[in-house]
Amino acid sequence: MPSLKTHRIFSPILGIALALPASLSSFAQAPAKAPAVIAVQVDKTEHSVSPTLYGLMTEEINFSYDGGLYPELVKNRTMRDRDWNQQDWLTLQNSAAGAKVEKDKTTGPSAALTDSIKITVTAASEAEPAGVRNQGYWGYPLKPDTTYAASLYAKSDSGSLGPLHLNLVSNKTGKSVASAEIPSIGSDWKQYSATLKTGKIEASEAYHYEITLTKPGTLWIDLVSVFPPTYKNRVNGRRVDLMEKLAGMHPAFLRFPGGNYLEGDHIDERFKWKETVGPLVDRPTHPSPWGYHSSDGLGLLEFLEWCEDLNMQNVLAVYAGYSMKQEHVEPGPALDPYVQDALDEIEYATGGPDTKWGAQRVKDGHPAPFKLAYVEVGNEDWFDQSKSYDGRFKQFHDAIKAKYPDQKLIATAPVTSVKPDVLDDHFYLSAENYFNDVHHYDKFDRNGPKIFMGEYATMEGSPTADFGAALGDAAWLTGVERNSDVVVMSSYAPLLVNVHNGGMQWHPDLIGYDGLSSYGSPSYYVLSLFAAKIGDAVPASTITGAGTRVAYSVTKSDATGKVFVKVVNGVPTPQPIEIDLSGISAITGPAKLTQLHALSPNDTNTITEPKHIVPVDSTLPVTGTKLKHTMPGYSFEVIELDTKK
Ligand code: AHR
Repeated sequence: MPSLKTHRIFSPILGIALALPASLSSFAQAPAKAPAVIAVQVDKTEHSVSPTLYGLMTEEINFSYDGGLYPELVKNRTMRDRDWNQQDWLTLQNSAAGAKVEKDKTTGPSAALTDSIKITVTAASEAEPAGVRNQGYWGYPLKPDTTYAASLYAKSDSGSLGPLHLNLVSNKTGKSVASAEIPSIGSDWKQYSATLKTGKIEASEAYHYEITLTKPGTLWIDLVSVFPPTYKNRVNGRRVDLMEKLAGMHPAFLRFPGGNYLEGDHIDERFKWKETVGPLVDRPTHPSPWGYHSSDGLGLLEFLEWCEDLNMQNVLAVYAGYSMKQEHVEPGPALDPYVQDALDEIEYATGGPDTKWGAQRVKDGHPAPFKLAYVEVGNEDWFDQSKSYDGRFKQFHDAIKAKYPDQKLIATAPVTSVKPDVLDDHFYLSAENYFNDVHHYDKFDRNGPKIFMGEYATMEGSPTADFGAALGDAAWLTGVERNSDVVVMSSYAPLLVNVHNGGMQWHPDLIGYDGLSSYGSPSYYVLSLFAAKIGDAVPASTITGAGTRVAYSVTKSDATGKVFVKVVNGVPTPQPIEIDLSGISAITGPAKLTQLHALSPNDTNTITEPKHIVPVDSTLPVTGTKLKHTMPGYSFEVIELDTKK
């Protein structure tokens, strides 16, 4: 029997929260429905399941990297944000008003970073230091007993200005909670490093960073960094809790770097990969199409290492000569430099040390070449009103296949000049539309290109998908899974959102976070269950007696004897189901049930109630080769059956 799960409901009459068993709370008085019968011929295989069916799509949107997965705490660390106006960097005055902070466009630490902050301190003392403070993205999210790696590029107007004081400071008390000193700053640009260690402080975002002098002097600073510990301790790596959430999705691949972020609003604002590799000081940063500047701390090599960390295959999207404000490059000689740039990018990822760009990757710290599962040419090129994509795709296709004959290519719009290996299809729909279209791929041409559902989401919920969206996503994915001979990959978008005010540019999103914690939306759990509980083949099956709001898929593994049945009940009333297996002698033991359920489509998880809707595990009795069970209204279930031949 399933465990007796309870739900909290609010009684407006009593003004109190009541706890009811799930079976009672879901329309207990509704008349009994006839069961939906799912008949599975376990010994008849229709096709195999694509091993890359469930993956991730990512881009810089919603402060996904800066202020999110890329855990740099210093906001606007290179002072290159378009709206630099001392919002991020504030003058730290003392009673003598002895400091001036301004942007200096005449000096910077590298050819890429040609400007800096000039801090002129005219009066300062041990008791009243002066300098500058950084506010962070939404404060500095600090934790107790944690070591932060601090660094900055600096120069002074004298041979030895100092000491320079670095302090993480509480917004509530004004007191330092971690400090370090740089004894003296010379007159040439140089990087200085220190560690900042917190003690028994309160975990909170209410901290900031101060860089001060206790004597008069003039100082220039740039590329200021305070970095927390990262996932697998990667230098310049990724935020731990978010990486753990992503690992929980069992992703087979990562599609990067976009999305619109690949294209940019204008050609000159595209993702120029060559400007995102090498030392951070050599990365000029760039404006992103989502209304804020990108630090490019998470650049091409970091994307590849992200895949390595989570054992995901690389799906690299290369810029293909189209940017979103209807700017395009004509196929032919004008496009050649862009094609060459893509060839160089592939060489950077996959080349040996004897190649120009492979050697650059080795120099950047990653000797082993990566493998690219797919190269995607562009993004959403159906938006290009010049209709140049067919020609552009062919030019990239021919050049890439000539140099890398085995490299599989993805087209982002239908093309006729050549046959792409895979076509990227995007769907942002309502739950209603997804339920109505669960047979979308059933009749697809099996001889055409394979399909990559590179972006999809049920457009309900904000900032993250709500339970109604989760049901829409689940219904849609049953159709994807049943047709996983055609749909070889799928990825939800957008993946991440910073839930602080001003953090979101698009909703719904899959995973929400602030500086300290994160949570999965109900859709996050749907996607995680689809990827975790799956066989390697689709057996023949039918469903009878089901209404239009019941969707299902079945997969199996002959090697383990497991059969996974996924069912969505998209209405508020309970749905009896019968699972009837043939081609086996018995189901052994009770079945495992994993259930995701809520009382209303508007129910959801939030940063303050992150586990309101989570999967609940229990068992179900079986009889011979059959199982009978009633799903609650609004639910998604995975039933895992162990069978013997
Ligand atoms: O996922 C958000 C955006 O939607 C992507 O950047 C773009 O490819 C699509 O239009």
